[in-house]
Amino acid sequence: MSESVVQQRHYLRAMGIDLWLERQEAQQSDTSLQNNWQDLEQAVAACQRCELHLCRKQTVFGRGSQQARLMLIGEAPGAEEDRQGLPFVGRAGQLLDRIIAGVGLNMDDIYIANILKCRPPNNRDPNAAEVAQCQDYLQQQVDLLQPQLILALGRIAAHNLLHVSTALSRLRGQAYVFGQTKIPLWVSYHPAYLLRNPADKAKAYEDWLKVAELLK
Ligand code: URA
Repeated sequence: MSESVVQQRHYLRAMGIDLWLERQEAQQSDTSLQNNWQDLEQAVAACQRCELHLCRKQTVFGRGSQQARLMLIGEAPGAEEDRQGLPFVGRAGQLLDRIIAGVGLNMDDIYIANILKCRPPNNRDPNAAEVAQCQDYLQQQVDLLQPQLILALGRIAAHNLLHVSTALSRLRGQAYVFGQTKIPLWVSYHPAYLLRNPADKAKAYEDWLKVAELLK
């Protein structure tokens, strides 16, 4: 901070304009958070907004390319993700990697994140308060990445991104848009669901082929 700015602040404080200064400072730190992956990841790592920080091993921010055109959004970290600090690295993640390779997509073109950055105990569904507290982290990831397309993986991601409660089987197969910037969004099954319901893998494959085609 330059000497003249320090002096200006001194005068403003002396005039009792502290509140305005605090607001300016808060706005400046918000802006730098939005402009910088590293700052955002650090803010997430230090987050104590909800009780999940008490039982996490670590936060799970995201993985993949920060230049990716496709953003995958899942639900929340599981046990393995909590251990490694990376999304989709357990059994569901291994299936996801096989699907990605199977439709000819490359991890250089993909970024993966979750609705929640901390593991809910016993892998229970995220609750509304946790989603609300975590939502601006995901929004900032989307703003930084500006993906060409978002793929919501599973019911929890689809419901929270689209603000609907329709069954996933009825949501897939159609194009949606996400947020104010209207990023095209597609919906498919969660890989953990596919591990339990392998008969639906063919439908998931159709979704992924469509996504691959849209990216071309
Ligand atoms: N399931 C998710 O939704 N996200 C992960 O990171 C792992 C499993």
